[in-house]
Amino acid sequence: MEDPRGGDQQPQLPSPSIWPVGFAVGIVCLLVGLVISWWVAALGAAIAIVFGFLWARDVATRKPAAPVPLDEAATDGAPEPSPGERFPRNKFLEGATLGLGALIGGIVTLPVLGFALMPAFVDQGEKEVDVGPIDDFPEGKYVVATFMRDPKQGEISRFTAFIRNNGSVAGKPSFTCIANRCAHLGCPVQPGGPLFEDQKKTFGHVTLIPALPAAGFICPCHGGSYDQEGNRIAGPPVRALDRYEFFIRNGRLWLGDLYSVAKVKGAGATARIYRYEKTGPGQHVDGPEAWLYPLQPPH
Ligand code: FES
Repeated sequence: MEDPRGGDQQPQLPSPSIWPVGFAVGIVCLLVGLVISWWVAALGAAIAIVFGFLWARDVATRKPAAPVPLDEAATDGAPEPSPGERFPRNKFLEGATLGLGALIGGIVTLPVLGFALMPAFVDQGEKEVDVGPIDDFPEGKYVVATFMRDPKQGEISRFTAFIRNNGSVAGKPSFTCIANRCAHLGCPVQPGGPLFEDQKKTFGHVTLIPALPAAGFICPCHGGSYDQEGNRIAGPPVRALDRYEFFIRNGRLWLGDLYSVAKVKGAGATARIYRYEKTGPGQHVDGPEAWLYPLQPPH
């Protein structure tokens, strides 16, 4: 059957554009970056913004298709647009459908994304804990301190720290406060030497037991082993043991947030600590391998 519009008068469709594809690539890059790295997320956001802008500009400046004259047969009895009508009904319906779809999609998606992603980015700092007067930590000796981070939660919040008083540097007290979470898979690391239970002190939820970790610290799970500064010396752990921040308040030692450590050079008060945000067990914190792990929530 002959085309009622006749001859070469074909519908004038807009030429294909690469901007939507670039925009989609940017969004994918942004979402992947939220999981693996801020830099990838920033790159994805930049790509999405640039391509989104180009797409919007393309749509805004695109000339409408040239009107195709229709003969009686082609109009099929449809009414002619009224003179002066700027937005034909089909345009309105198209916009309303897309707008309503976007609105419903946003209402359904945004809360889900918020509940799924936001907790990881909300401050999850640890409660500071008073582990006793600094006189209870003899200089140059390790003490194993166990304490509850949040006594209201009970034993489930019990943590352990290996604490050594390094004396003072420039008049300021120095402590090494090592966490007992293995940097392989998180098993509790033990001191490689005797514990002096007969000298144990307990006050409230805090227990202090002097120790002599002559062989450093040892993990019972897979044989990970660390020196007295917490550096990995053998086994599968990928970095040094985590450490606690510490503060001195009114002559008492307080422990704060945990942070991760790549390695420690030197020892005691003059040690150089390569410190990073707290990360999960088994994760590299430096070098190219660190790029393979997801972002850590803020602390
Ligand atoms: S969990 Fe410590 S060595 Fe594996």
